[in-house]
Amino acid sequence: MPAVSPDIKQLLTDYDQLHLIAAAESLTEDQVKDLEDQIRAIDFDQITAARESSDSSAGDDAVPRADNAVAPATVVRPPVSDEERLQRQKDIATGNRLLADGAVAVITVAGGQGTRLGFDRPKGMFPIGPVSNMSLFQIFAEQIAARRERHGGSLPWLVMTSDATHQETQDYFSDNSYFGLDPQTVHFFKQGSMPAVDAESGQILMNGSSSICRSPDGHGGMVTALDSSGLLQQLADAGVKHFFYHQVDNPTVIICDPALIGVHDRIQSDLTTNVVRKVDPMERMGVLVDIDGETQIIEYSELTEQQAHRQDDAGNWVFWAGNTAIHVFSLTFLQSLVADGCQLELHVAHKKVPHVRADGEPVDPSEPNAHKFERFIFDALPLAQKTLIVEGDRDREFNPVKNATGSDSPETSQAAISRIGREWLQQSGINVSEDQVVEVSPATALDADELKQKLEAGSVTVAQLTK
Ligand code: UTP
Repeated sequence: MPAVSPDIKQLLTDYDQLHLIAAAESLTEDQVKDLEDQIRAIDFDQITAARESSDSSAGDDAVPRADNAVAPATVVRPPVSDEERLQRQKDIATGNRLLADGAVAVITVAGGQGTRLGFDRPKGMFPIGPVSNMSLFQIFAEQIAARRERHGGSLPWLVMTSDATHQETQDYFSDNSYFGLDPQTVHFFKQGSMPAVDAESGQILMNGSSSICRSPDGHGGMVTALDSSGLLQQLADAGVKHFFYHQVDNPTVIICDPALIGVHDRIQSDLTTNVVRKVDPMERMGVLVDIDGETQIIEYSELTEQQAHRQDDAGNWVFWAGNTAIHVFSLTFLQSLVADGCQLELHVAHKKVPHVRADGEPVDPSEPNAHKFERFIFDALPLAQKTLIVEGDRDREFNPVKNATGSDSPETSQAAISRIGREWLQQSGINVSEDQVVEVSPATALDADELKQKLEAGSVTVAQLTK
């Protein structure tokens, strides 16, 4: 009968979690060792502290934060004057140069479980192209290939996965020959995970007699994972200065938009965020604000209806600057986060977590029963010395796939891809009807100008872009 080591027994006694080894007698030696490793990986103090602080901040403590918030004081807006247009051209030239120099890398965070979409594979594999049916990952791969071709730089691609998505994602890339990219230039790195605990008792939940229920530790786990994978150092050694960060669910993100990279570099920003105008004050989107002179994000769930509608003296919404989760991080800022221990705040979410009871009975809850723990990347904002907010073009850049139906669903995202394609055709002097489904894949063109050139040269036909 395999014995659980005394230090583990003591640890579990101290934290009132002895149920984790209740079935140890029926396990093999290897299973016990594996279970011990899972237990050793848990920071019990951290979980307890996160639950306690979430209990004490429940209720109306969130109100003062929103009440103290004002709209961000400085935002780089789309250019309107000649002077601003000239500056934009200079920023684009800087961005182009940095890309050519190999000073930029792309991070795609793709470790989430995508529960709202209800797709049973990693979200990046979701088929989104309205004509081609190509996946989110393929669209990004084509964009990266096209940027490398256009700018001539190495542009490494870092894909963050989790236990939930790692193997399938790697297999998908390999089964599809990395969509034509050199596999040496695509780096997968796996984020950490956190145990789920019973919301009432605080007891850690199990999947079976030797397996603890775990889930990815949030997109904020990116900083630790990037460091512990060795990639941060590797890319620093290779001359990367800036990291373009985006989420896996937005097919119309302009990866490494030279204008964004350029302005980030000019301002010497630690952390730059692309924002777009909320369409409605109650839209479920985090917003960038200033609180006591610091750039922060307020989550939609933190705002009461009245707060969400608050206007400034000029009649503008205070909470207008919706976070697209498109960021540029400077290498030095990421290194400083690592030096400080990467400790972004641990948030507690109340979720449904199926599990197995100590008596072996499976439980599939119909109501939230558990606490899960996640870090959010935007909690890095107040830690930055210098932040920059840039207003993007919502229709062009932000059309995410979050939900199975309704807003931010495959239907709205595909309609946006099609609309963008129709607009680009119109800019080439080709009119297509409003209900025509169009898709311009990144391999065909990265923008309207490139499409125009290809149509004029005859290397692309309208028939190839429509169905
Ligand atoms: P969301 O917060 O939308 O979560 O993630 P999700 O997992 O995709 O979907 P839901 O909430 O379960 O429906 C935003 C981005 O952050 C990544 C996701 O893959 C997505 O690109 N993410 C999220 C991670 O990489 N790791 C995480 O632990 C959570």
